[in-house]
Amino acid sequence: MEINTNKVKTLRECVKEVGEKGVAIGHFNISNLEGLHGVYNAAKKLKVPIIIGLSEGEEEFVGKNEAVALIKEIRENDSYPIFLNADHHYSFESVKGAIDAGFDAVIYDGANLSFEENVLIAKQCVDYARLVTQNTGRDIMVESEIGYIGSGSNIKETIPEGAGIKTKPEEAKRFVEMTGVDMLAPSVGSIHGLIKSGKPHIDETLVKEIKDTVGIPLVLHGGSGLRDEDFTNGIRAGISIIHINTEIRVAYLEALKKSMLDNPNEIAPYKILAPAVEAIEKVVENRLKLFNNIK
Ligand code: G3H
Ligand code: ZN
Repeated sequence: MEINTNKVKTLRECVKEVGEKGVAIGHFNISNLEGLHGVYNAAKKLKVPIIIGLSEGEEEFVGKNEAVALIKEIRENDSYPIFLNADHHYSFESVKGAIDAGFDAVIYDGANLSFEENVLIAKQCVDYARLVTQNTGRDIMVESEIGYIGSGSNIKETIPEGAGIKTKPEEAKRFVEMTGVDMLAPSVGSIHGLIKSGKPHIDETLVKEIKDTVGIPLVLHGGSGLRDEDFTNGIRAGISIIHINTEIRVAYLEALKKSMLDNPNEIAPYKILAPAVEAIEKVVENRLKLFNNIK
């Protein structure tokens, strides 16, 4: 989806628009300013909306308030649809912390809990987001997960035990009705991280069935290492946002190692790190072209 930078759309508007256009918004995690520059450079080049994600660990490292200030500055100064998401937050308290700091969206991740416990805390997060929206006029989107796809954006030998059991459409529908979440992350074939033995393919039929049953935007997690057709099939079936993290972590680290080996006497961080920013930008650009159907 190409953007018109005259008026900055809200995340909710962007999500609605990609759903209508049959494309998806890319969500990329960052751990530092280099990550933000790499992701934003790629988005800007293609003129597409973008979501920056911070897991609980990434958020602690970057700083909640610092991250909010950076994204707000870019959005307002460049009139650009860039949004900040609290990715995989595991408690009401940590979701609340991100909402209070000014994040645009939050993910309460209770996928590893029982259905009842997951519903209870997800509903608490939704109620709080609605209260803040009412009091401040900020539109905060809440996402939840149902069906466990493993955790951690890292390199794994095989699929972790207990991960990858697919979401049942009827259970997803009950979850959405009971919690009122804005978006849902189901388990439809992907697993978090890069899996050395390979990832299962995206179950396009299941994505469509869940989408038709729940009627709210769907988010695909665990994007690293999937085939191009997994993304295009998933988007066609109803995915509106796609998360990538491990691939950009690997690109960053490899470029950084090479930069240090090639320039052993260089001590200026901005020079050492420039190739790492470019490496992130390259990965993100390729993924964004695919997600936004740009040739
Ligand atoms: O929320 C983050 C993602 O789902 C990233 O998954 O590390 O497999 O790309 P990934
Ligand atoms: Zn995820």
